[in-house]
Amino acid sequence: MIRQLQKNEEIPYKLLLLADETIEAINRYINDSEIYIFENDNETIAVYALQKISDDTIEIKNIAVDTKHQGQGIGKLLLRDAISRAKAKGFKTIVIGTGDIAIKQLYLYQKEGFEIFDIKKSFYLDNYPNPIYENGIQLKDMVMLKKELI
Ligand code: COA
Repeated sequence: MIRQLQKNEEIPYKLLLLADETIEAINRYINDSEIYIFENDNETIAVYALQKISDDTIEIKNIAVDTKHQGQGIGKLLLRDAISRAKAKGFKTIVIGTGDIAIKQLYLYQKEGFEIFDIKKSFYLDNYPNPIYENGIQLKDMVMLKKELI
């Protein structure tokens, strides 16, 4: 049910925009990433993007589940799929970044074995033209988490 998007297929920006604020930000990584989609009855309902960072490390640059289908375990499924594909490709580490106030995401990633290893201070202030608010709090720093694959 999860498959890689082919180069000639349309990039699911609507879904990617659930996890990233602007198309410009998505375009900074999407053409160098492998995109994986989760389909249900021919409808794409979830996506993630993997980008090689170095010979040892791969990053989940985006992971998003259509709002109607959130909270049903699909995000966890995608995360596990990304981990097993990264392992199969021979990477030693998989990383993911999220907002400092993204409680649900931090919970999910740590539950799946990721550990915080870095904070990119002011990432959301420096990389986006407009302030981003979640639950009334301005997003400032990006929390980086990693999982060792061996
Ligand atoms: N608060 C805390 N934890 C929550 C939660 C909430 N409101 N909603 C769900 N969770 C937990 C679940 O309990 C689950 O763990 P458990 O079942 O073992 O208890 C875990 O999060 C995963 O739930 P799941 O149903 O697999 O998540 P999902 O399908 O909703 O996908 C996201 C998670 C983050 C990918 C999805 O919500 C999403 O697309 N959000 C918008 C885009 C985004 O923020 N992407 C991440 C960018 S870093």
